[in-house]
Amino acid sequence: MNAPHAPLPLLTFPDADKSPLSIRAKALVFFDPRSHEVRDEVERLAPLPQPVLIHGETGTGKELLARHIHRASERPGLFVAVSCSALSRNYADAELFGYAPGAHNGPVGSRAGWFGSANGGTLYLDEIADLPLSLQQKLLRVLQEREVLRVGAREPVPVDVRLVAATSIDLGQAVKAGKFLEGLQQYLHDGNLTLPPLRERIGDIQPLAEYFLGVHAQRLELPVPQIASDTQRALEGYSWPGNIRELENVIHFALLVSPDEEIRPEHLNFSGGVAGSGGVTKVSDEALEHLVRQPGVEAQLRALLQRLEHERGPEAAL
Ligand SMILES: Nc1ncnc2c1ncn2[C@@H]1O[C@H](COP(=O)(O)OP(=O)(O)O)[C@@H](O)[C@H]1O
Ligand SMILES: [Mg+2]
Repeated sequence: MNAPHAPLPLLTFPDADKSPLSIRAKALVFFDPRSHEVRDEVERLAPLPQPVLIHGETGTGKELLARHIHRASERPGLFVAVSCSALSRNYADAELFGYAPGAHNGPVGSRAGWFGSANGGTLYLDEIADLPLSLQQKLLRVLQEREVLRVGAREPVPVDVRLVAATSIDLGQAVKAGKFLEGLQQYLHDGNLTLPPLRERIGDIQPLAEYFLGVHAQRLELPVPQIASDTQRALEGYSWPGNIRELENVIHFALLVSPDEEIRPEHLNFSGGVAGSGGVTKVSDEALEHLVRQPGVEAQLRALLQRLEHERGPEAAL
């Protein structure tokens, strides 16, 4: 059993319940020192007008962070999230930049396009490297000139949009491979944020697990179970390929299958298998160092080594 952590997630969404956007998390749970670095950088960048590029694996919280940046920027317009991989092939131009009356038979929801909808606010472009080069070119022009030429229109319309882009790949490498426009990469360069994968911010795992447990228990009108200490170790030892999204799913599942008020390791359904039987993969050195610095861990490791030594004889000692 673990003492609950002090409830001090520092980036909060005070009116998330009233928000029309589907914000599932009311707070960004940031406890690990690496997350604190990200948080500080976010606080610095949010009020500035410059674009932001968030780099991170899927499920690390890029969109949540982008929403926070929008909120903290106090820009009056909307936060508009667009997945570049989901834009339709034939109408991507019109979807993004809008179209003049008569230019289309209405293939997209709004003539203003996503850019027009985000006017005065923030446009979040997820997986920006998935935009075809021709659209990257147009995007850069629109951002630099602050006006957009809608498909089929003669005159450009002024727009004031702050771009927050996200990528799970290294844009520098994509530029070298000729798949990403160097000018666009440079345009995004000053506002770089990297969200480390969950396995490299182990200090966030327990607070996030408790947070999701609380959220789902409340939603399901269930008592909030405790996380057993060997469960915590299993959570911290897993590699989390799906990052925070996967952690939420694992906790949600565990809540539903645990018969009493304790989450035990057998309730954890990792996508990569059960911890200890292949699901636990490589943990980075940095993460391991952090883990070893946690209270009690060193003592447990020593006890384990002593047991090994005792069982196998002196050659097992490190
Ligand atoms: N720091 C965090 N605190 C609480 N919930 C988080 C945090 N980061 C991510 N989440 C949640 O994890 C899920 C994945 O986050 P998301 O922003 O969609 O990731 P990405 O855009 O990188 O794929 C979402 O449900 C989000 O609310
Ligand atoms: Mg996403």
